[in-house]
Amino acid sequence: MSTIGQGVDRVDGRDKVTGRATYAAEHRLPGIAHAVLVTSTIASGRIVGIDAGTAERMRGVVLVMTHRNAPKLPKGGRGAVDPPAGRVLNLLQDDEVLYSNQPVALVVAETLEQARDAARAVRVHYAAHAPTMDFDRARFNAAKPEKAKQEPADSRRGDLQAGIDAAAEQIDVGYRTPMEHHNPMEPHATIAAWEGEHLTLYDSTQYVSGDARTVAKVLGLPNERVRVICPYVGGGFGCKGSTWSHVVLAAMAAKSAGRPVKLVLDRPQMFGPVGGRPETEQRLLLAASADGALTAVRHNVIAASAFQEDWLETSAIVTRMLYACGSQETTHRLARLNIGTPTFMRAPGEATGSFALECAMDELAYELKMDPIALRLRNYAETEPEKGKPFSRKELRECYRQGAERFGWTRRDPRPMAMRNGNLLVGMGMATATYPANRKDARASARILADGSAVLASGTQDLGTGTYTVMTQVAADALGLPISRVRFELGDSSLPQAPVSGGSQSVASVAPAVQQAATAARTKLVGMALADRASPLFEAAPGEVQVENGFLFLQSAPDRRDSYAAIIARHGGKPVAAESAAEPGDEKEKYALHSFGAVFAEVHVDPELGTIRVPRIVGAYDVGQLLNEKTGRSQLIGGIVWGVGMALMETTEYDMRYGRPVNNNLAEYHVPVNADIGDIDIIVLPGKDPVINALGTRGIGEIGITGVAAAIANAVYHATGKRVRELPITLDKVM
Ligand code: MOS
Repeated sequence: MSTIGQGVDRVDGRDKVTGRATYAAEHRLPGIAHAVLVTSTIASGRIVGIDAGTAERMRGVVLVMTHRNAPKLPKGGRGAVDPPAGRVLNLLQDDEVLYSNQPVALVVAETLEQARDAARAVRVHYAAHAPTMDFDRARFNAAKPEKAKQEPADSRRGDLQAGIDAAAEQIDVGYRTPMEHHNPMEPHATIAAWEGEHLTLYDSTQYVSGDARTVAKVLGLPNERVRVICPYVGGGFGCKGSTWSHVVLAAMAAKSAGRPVKLVLDRPQMFGPVGGRPETEQRLLLAASADGALTAVRHNVIAASAFQEDWLETSAIVTRMLYACGSQETTHRLARLNIGTPTFMRAPGEATGSFALECAMDELAYELKMDPIALRLRNYAETEPEKGKPFSRKELRECYRQGAERFGWTRRDPRPMAMRNGNLLVGMGMATATYPANRKDARASARILADGSAVLASGTQDLGTGTYTVMTQVAADALGLPISRVRFELGDSSLPQAPVSGGSQSVASVAPAVQQAATAARTKLVGMALADRASPLFEAAPGEVQVENGFLFLQSAPDRRDSYAAIIARHGGKPVAAESAAEPGDEKEKYALHSFGAVFAEVHVDPELGTIRVPRIVGAYDVGQLLNEKTGRSQLIGGIVWGVGMALMETTEYDMRYGRPVNNNLAEYHVPVNADIGDIDIIVLPGKDPVINALGTRGIGEIGITGVAAAIANAVYHATGKRVRELPITLDKVM
């Protein structure tokens, strides 16, 4: 009766479509006041004066908070910086401005309209410097960061020069990716409410417990005084993985105002103070012998970062692990600009890195006159090439094979401009997708209630991805209950702790915890029945007991059965409770854990207009056990859709003079809409990851975007003969 893997409908679907699901800004609290953030109009300089008097006298205004009257925080508000998820925040503690859209004041009023009106009346005077915005110049001063996530910024194996000297063909080319900003439908939003010295935050976050800890640390409070509640997130994608300034500012304002305060960022404020994907320049050297064996690989990355804090887009990490090649060198350097600190954005590193690497592989395949899949198979890494560890499971060959077959790769004439559909140029391109399989400690609790139903809980998050649904499935499976009789709670820092819903790790971390808690509760219940003279299962062997549909029964004698509700009723009606702490073992020591995929894209390019359409994409993936065919497919499709946006549309354009993003809205910051997306066909290979956890399941949040931009860029080359190495591939670049 297990539903694991089946396309079960979202258990929260009805609440979502009927508006009953409560997002951060929708919680109703008595006496709530509305806050509006005022952000800097310069990108570099100092605040020399603030005229808040007019705003303060306006009707309904409760508070105008600036650096002159904001509460002074311990360590100037820098008490919580804990990389990589910790952030240097802008909490009105000084007069320095380091990026456009930096918070400089917060206006609180009785109504949103009054707050907005008054926010416009706050006059901020600056001594402005010319901001550093030109990546092309800043890259000459690029500096080495200390670390790239948990990995060193630079890597080296073998003898690069010897590998280059031994090659028959080589390419040495540069790729560029632009600054991009996350634009979840639900912007960042926070309600802060104090009860004495206890703070409750209703915050849209990917990490309820981390959010609570960060705010506690910044404000100098013990952890137990801050609680974060977040039952629903309207999209995160990485920007809600860290606690940003507005969260703490809302708490400060609520304290000063003596009442709950709600702060929602407006769409333009999503461009700067809450992260983004930084611009990169990536130089790729690939050298190979005539049969396509890679003899040398060099990947040098320069990524934009901020002045107030280092954050690195780890584009070359993917190059270290994807192909077998004995001679390799990778480097990462940071070019500082007057921008808000960049951050995780769906597959940070892999999305940009796989674009460069997988385009370079295509270029090399053309140099070698080889099929792009054959080139990848020629360099297939049987073990992880950097550390020599075996992969826990790598079915990438099968991804290439099944993807190519579904796509019809053999129909491809490899010559550029060789294929047409009417007057449209047709291109077919492919690329490899990959993302690490991460897992961290997670806890969960389980209670079987008097009516025989169950409640499971873990302080994890559902970003719209299906966490509620898949955890309900896992619990129902372990408890022998239909999913309609299981409720899963999440999104509250007071629940058993779970990791950040980032790095594609929620499923791999939390599902084992839920499975263990449910199994422990079931074991307790079985023990109660076996010791109970009134039970038909009295003194049966524990190994004989099966569960199904809220009943225990004996395998050998199915008519000896006892319902959960009856067992609990005979024991005084108290819920049967259990807790779990699921921790990864030493598998990362022994194995390399990664997900893989192969992406195939077809493009149609109008030779006169340069317009590019993507009528179809096929993606074939090895992600271990998929818990839910429907939500899982949706998530992979979502990643691919974003990959189309990355390939063809997305870029944040700055006014270099003022450092201001000029397309800071959804009208001008282009993302794909329905009409831009053709047929997306997803294949997920069956089977489990035998190592990562008992369910064999890996996260799938990020792999979907990887490889897509490269597959499309390679298809554009195939269609047009134009090698566009700079994203997004807009029509001007193919003309
Ligand atoms: Mo993901 S970019 O780690 O939320």
